[in-house]
Amino acid sequence: MTRPFPDDLLKVPHRRDVPFARLTTLGVGGLCRWLFEPTTEAEAQAFVRACARVGLPWRVLGGGSNLVVLGDLDEPVLKLALPRQIRRAGTCLSAPASHGHIALAEAAAAAGLAGLEFAGGIPGSLGGAIRMNAGAYGREWVDVLSSYRFLTPAGELVEKRPEPGEFSYRKSFLTGGHVVLSATAELVAGDPAAIAAQVADNRGRRGTSQPLSKRNAGCIFKNPPGQSAGRLIDEAGLKGLRIGDAEVSPEHANFLVNHGRATAAEFAELMEQVRLRVLERHGIKLEPEVEIWAGSSPSAAPNPQLSTDS
Ligand code: FAD
Ligand code: EPU
Repeated sequence: MTRPFPDDLLKVPHRRDVPFARLTTLGVGGLCRWLFEPTTEAEAQAFVRACARVGLPWRVLGGGSNLVVLGDLDEPVLKLALPRQIRRAGTCLSAPASHGHIALAEAAAAAGLAGLEFAGGIPGSLGGAIRMNAGAYGREWVDVLSSYRFLTPAGELVEKRPEPGEFSYRKSFLTGGHVVLSATAELVAGDPAAIAAQVADNRGRRGTSQPLSKRNAGCIFKNPPGQSAGRLIDEAGLKGLRIGDAEVSPEHANFLVNHGRATAAEFAELMEQVRLRVLERHGIKLEPEVEIWAGSSPSAAPNPQLSTDS
């Protein structure tokens, strides 16, 4: 830390030196030096306002299922810890952004509400899913999103309905200091058994095509328009390419897996190798889908094998 944090920031509940191996599904990265975990929206707002006032850069973390962290991070990290509560009004379900994404999809299915079946296998938090406009099997969050609440980078609270252009494939404007606080999905009444069967079918498809038994961050690269990044990487002959404990999954080439002791440096190198070799083979530049947080001190040491907190 180069300068002291303001007092009002330090009033927000926080922990020090939490390994990113515990905060991400991939399990690499160094230490999160300052992890702020507000339990109310007012605390989250106090965090954002305090940082904005003194011009302190910071980041927001959800379930860490779309993140590759390279090294230690000195900047404060915000991870919402709002009370787990789902509210139903008619066929609409609302939940706080820190709610588990899969748990929300399961709650919708149990309530006989259709529309979130696609979400049943996507880990992380609701906030991360809205920010990423997460999707699968031809559906994505914007298809069901009826309204969402967020903080602006200045700490103002906004609640609105989605508008054209705000969300696209794995993309939204909710970056650079926006914090999703909650969201409401507009669903349709359906048969609970049929909805549960659809969730199970999607899970089954995932189980046969994705390496779910190894730590990973989902698909590493976005699909280029009309193409599958997984197929391009596969056709470049890269399945099984391994640097230390980081490997291009033999099951799905767009998943890089951590065999347990992979370092951030190994992942960075493997991603670069994949990118270069796909460019050579296909003339296509792959763009990361995962967020990459470059730390202050790229860690070369292996991470302890820790399970994720999220
Ligand atoms: P994080 O990884 O914590 O963060 C991702 C980004 O969102 C970061 O930029 C972060 O700053 C931002 N963010 C997090 N919370 C907030 C918030 N409250 N407000 C504003 N910004 C926030 N994704 C898909 O789309 N489809 C899939 O089918 C899919 N399958 C996956 C399968 C596996 C096994 C895994 C590990 C991942 C998969 N993913 C998939 C990727 C990932 O689960 C999604 O992108 C997920 O929505 C990320 O949510 P998160 O809470 O973990 O976000
Ligand atoms: N394929 C290969 N080799 C591979 C992987 C895939 O040839 O190693 C082929 C498959 O045979 C298939 C095609 O590529 O013909 C597409 O593969 P798949 O159905 O697995 O879908 P994907 O395009 O690789 C996308 C999303 C996933 C999402 C699935 C299901 C992206 C980058 N990926 O994968 O999302 O779960 O569709 O809808 O958009 C994520 O975003 O993290 C993610 C996992």
